[in-house]
Amino acid sequence: MSNRLAKPLRLGVNIDHVATIRNARGGRHPDPLRAAHIAVEAGADGITAHLREDRRHISDSDIARLKAELTRPLNLEMAATDEMLAIALRHIPNACCIVPERREERTTEGGLDVIAGGDRLRRIVEELKAAGIRVSLFVEPDERAIAASAKIGADIVELHTGAYCEKALEDNAKALAGELNRITQATAMAADSGLEVHAGHGLTYNTVKAIAALPEVVELNIGHFLVGEAIFGGLNAAVRHMRELMNEARRESEARARRMADQLS
Ligand code: PXP
Repeated sequence: MSNRLAKPLRLGVNIDHVATIRNARGGRHPDPLRAAHIAVEAGADGITAHLREDRRHISDSDIARLKAELTRPLNLEMAATDEMLAIALRHIPNACCIVPERREERTTEGGLDVIAGGDRLRRIVEELKAAGIRVSLFVEPDERAIAASAKIGADIVELHTGAYCEKALEDNAKALAGELNRITQATAMAADSGLEVHAGHGLTYNTVKAIAALPEVVELNIGHFLVGEAIFGGLNAAVRHMRELMNEARRESEARARRMADQLS
C-alpha cells in the first residue's frame, strides 16, 4: 500500500447516455446540458462527453452548447482523427481524452494502443497541447502503455477500470485483487513518470471506493451507472451519493497513510 498523501479527487460526470436516451426518439428530451447543470449542482467538478465518429449519443451541437454554457471544465473524449482534432480546436475544451474507437463496439472496450498510434497520435497530442488543451490518453493499467504515454507528451493518463469492474461482478476475490493490484501499480508508475492520473469506465457504487482510495488518482470519470441510477432516484441524488463514497474512500486512505507515516517516523 502506498503511503503517499492523496491530492483532492475530482468527479467528472459523463453525460453520454442522457444523449443515448434522447436519441432513442430523436427529439430534444432529455437534454444533456440540463443533466450537466444538475451534475454540477450535485458536486461534479467537470463534465465529460464523448463525441463518437458515428454520433450515436453526443452530437456536435451538444459539444457547442456544453462549451458555451458550462460553468465547469469540459473534458471531450474523442478518437485520434483529424475530424475530431478540428472539432477540439474549434471549441477548445479544458481537456481532451483520446480514446480508441471501433464502430461495432458497444462502449470503449479497451485502452488506446499508444505505441501503434505512432507519429499520428504524437501530432494530435502536440496540436491539442499547442492550443492550450490538456491531453489525456485512455490506456490500460499497463506499464508499456504508460511509458509510451509519457514519451509522447501526454499530460494525463486515464486508466481503464473496465476489467476491474467486470471482475467485481464475478465471485472471484483473487482475480478482483489481481486487477486492483494492476491498477494500483499503474497509478504509482504513472505518477512517478510525471503524468496526472485519472481513472474510469464501468465504475459503480460498489467499485468506486477501491479506486478512489488510490492516492495518485486525481479524477474519476463516471457515466453509465449514474445515468442508470438517475432513473430510480434522480441524477442529483446519484451524483451526490457517488461523491460521498469518493470522499469517504479518500478520508479512509488518508487516515491509513498517516498511520503508516507515523509508524515509520
Ligand atoms: N472514461 C472514458 C475515457 C470513457 O470512454 C468512458 C465511457 O465513455 C468513461 C470514462 C465512463 O465510463 P462509464 O460510462 O462506464 O462510467
